[in-house]
Amino acid sequence: MPLPDPIDAVTSGQPACTYAGLASRGAMLWHAERQVWIATREASVRAVLDHPGCRVRPVGQPVPPALAGTAAGDVFGRLVRMNDGVDHRRAKDAIVAALDATDLAEVRHLTRRWTGRLFASGSTRLAFDVPVHVLGALLGVPDDRLPKVMSWTGSFAGAVAPHASAGVIARGIDAAGHLVAECSELLDMAEAGTLPWRLRTAFARAGLDDRDVVIANAIGLLVQTHDATAGLIGNAIVHLAVHPDAIDAGSPLSPQIMKIVRHVSRRDPSIQNTRRFVADDVTIVGTSIPAGASILVLLAGANNESTESWEFGYGRHACPGQAIAMTIAAACVETLVSEGAVPAEAPMSIRHVHSSNARIPRLAGFTGAGQ
Ligand code: HEM
Repeated sequence: MPLPDPIDAVTSGQPACTYAGLASRGAMLWHAERQVWIATREASVRAVLDHPGCRVRPVGQPVPPALAGTAAGDVFGRLVRMNDGVDHRRAKDAIVAALDATDLAEVRHLTRRWTGRLFASGSTRLAFDVPVHVLGALLGVPDDRLPKVMSWTGSFAGAVAPHASAGVIARGIDAAGHLVAECSELLDMAEAGTLPWRLRTAFARAGLDDRDVVIANAIGLLVQTHDATAGLIGNAIVHLAVHPDAIDAGSPLSPQIMKIVRHVSRRDPSIQNTRRFVADDVTIVGTSIPAGASILVLLAGANNESTESWEFGYGRHACPGQAIAMTIAAACVETLVSEGAVPAEAPMSIRHVHSSNARIPRLAGFTGAGQ
């Protein structure tokens, strides 16, 4: 019997059923149609993400060919997310140090402010707009430039997605140039204690005193925020619409919303899978995988069967933005609930934005109509 499709599952009605079906067939499976290995179970997901032979980019291709030699490719090649080895470790230490010092009360305050403002101004893409506005504000972008930064971030994120069209790539390359100029200025002018200042100092302390690397990774924070946090906000809104009695009006709202966002991030996560590329022949839970193969790592599948959380990744590439993401999502949803903006009923059927790894529901007014 052919294997169910793990990529179609991402945007399907019941991904958990597909993942459970795959896991019942084995921990490491070869998907002939997709030409990819799949890590389906907690043990194999952990083993792949831990294995030094499983890399974030194919050997000899640090940048996707369509972006090579462009401003977008230059940024991409310097991202912590797209590197392994000693440079990754140093950059990761710097980013973790810079992000961990973020004041989550400020993140909450900025999120409430931007959710209120963008809602009042009629944004139809709140779930995308709010998180990137908050990250941009943390990076020191002046209010009047945030819409531009938002739009460039969306264009860049589109261009680095697999199978982007020539038009989308061209827009992403143009956007990368603008983002480099913007972030370069922000890093130069950063006041002591702010996020760009912390990034600059932490990279220097980690021995990576390369301006272009710091600029690329400041942009990387905006890009990593874009789709993943929109998905979490969107999936939490769907949860509230499907469970109108999830909130007890007689109890304080904030802890209830945080609990719901935590539940959604585990049970309907925005990032369902990630990929690794095999640099040397490896053995994963007893299965030999040859060099050159690629592996689809079912984070949401591991979540299905585990007491641990996998939605923010695991091991050396695990997400350093988890606390910020959860804070933004909870404060955004809480503000929307207070404004009475969350739909009281779920649509008959929910479709999702086309993606091979992110689960973002199409919700008019929140993730744009008719995307
Ligand atoms: C709900 C929102 C988010 C989810 C579900 C999420 C999930 C993830 C996952 C699964 C990874 C690991 C990918 C892999 O191993 O291949 C990752 C990496 C990363 N995330 Fe997030 N993320 C979210 C929001 C954020 C935010 C808000 C930031 C920044 C403030 C951020 C910054 C990063 C960075 C820099 C990496 C790369 C880390 C590395 O490669 O070492 N993420 N994220």
